[in-house]
Amino acid sequence: MKKIGVLTSGGDAPGMNAAIRAVVRKAIYHNIEVYGINQGYSGLIAGSIRKLELGSVGDIIHRGGTILYTARSEEFKTEEGQQLGIEQLKKYGIEGLVVIGGDGSFRGAKKLTDKGFPCIGVPGTIDNDIPGTDFTIGFNTSLNTVLDAIDKIRDTATSHERTYVIETMGRNAGDLALWAGLAGGAESIIIPEVEYDMDSIVKRIIRGNERGKKHSIIIVAEGIGSGVEFGRRIQEATNLETRVSVLGYIQRGGSPTAFDRALASRLGARAVELLIDGKGGRMVGIENNQIVDHDISEIIARKHTIDVEMYKLSQELSI
Ligand code: F6P
Repeated sequence: MKKIGVLTSGGDAPGMNAAIRAVVRKAIYHNIEVYGINQGYSGLIAGSIRKLELGSVGDIIHRGGTILYTARSEEFKTEEGQQLGIEQLKKYGIEGLVVIGGDGSFRGAKKLTDKGFPCIGVPGTIDNDIPGTDFTIGFNTSLNTVLDAIDKIRDTATSHERTYVIETMGRNAGDLALWAGLAGGAESIIIPEVEYDMDSIVKRIIRGNERGKKHSIIIVAEGIGSGVEFGRRIQEATNLETRVSVLGYIQRGGSPTAFDRALASRLGARAVELLIDGKGGRMVGIENNQIVDHDISEIIARKHTIDVEMYKLSQELSI
């Protein structure tokens, strides 16, 4: 392997830059040229490709977002789109590709691998919804952003004696809401993976109110429904003043935490090692603090699950 490519695809996540840096530096260390592909698969189709040098990835380890830009490409889902992408890879002599992104990005990586271009997936998404890895790049930073928001909103909730519903991101996944809810001491956590019972959520708030607790924090993952709607229902049922905060895109930005930078560095480097070993169609991940790799087809086929014990604990601690 003499030339590899790297791209970021799907929603950006803090730590993607640290992963790009690790890919570039590890490859150059092994005398491999690296090409950065802009705007994910869209940029691949368009041929928006440039050679990356050691200096191209200097001063980015601490930056959120991705210097390679990112996109969600509908065109690459088609046979024609994939052929156009392959032509670009051939044009630049790129023999293998590191794809940093989520499950949608890995579907593209599998297609390319099946067509003879070995790809390695690196899980990067704030949602933490990829099987085969305990954590995805960006989750830890996003979690701390959500926690900071909860702490701040708690000040206002206490001062005004209100109930607050806080909506987190997580397209179909409740990890951000669950971890932030547990760490932030939320009264209830509403996530897509666990059926919720509005009666018990309401009872919990009223019970707290009766014993003198004048504020409550309810965390809702966007995948289960709108926080605004939950806020309306809770206010109606409890007759207590309820406000809603939809956290939105602040959850996607910001300087990555130490954890995300270290994780991104380890995963990016391992992805290059796999390509050097002639492997493709794999996804790297972290399990029990060990860097592992899995068949990317298995990862795509598997469904993400949450830690049920953690959910139960969050309920026990917020009685
Ligand atoms: O997958 C990451 C994520 O931030 C989800 O939590 C959210 O539902 C989605 O991306 C938003 O996507 P977009 O950036 O296209 O609005």
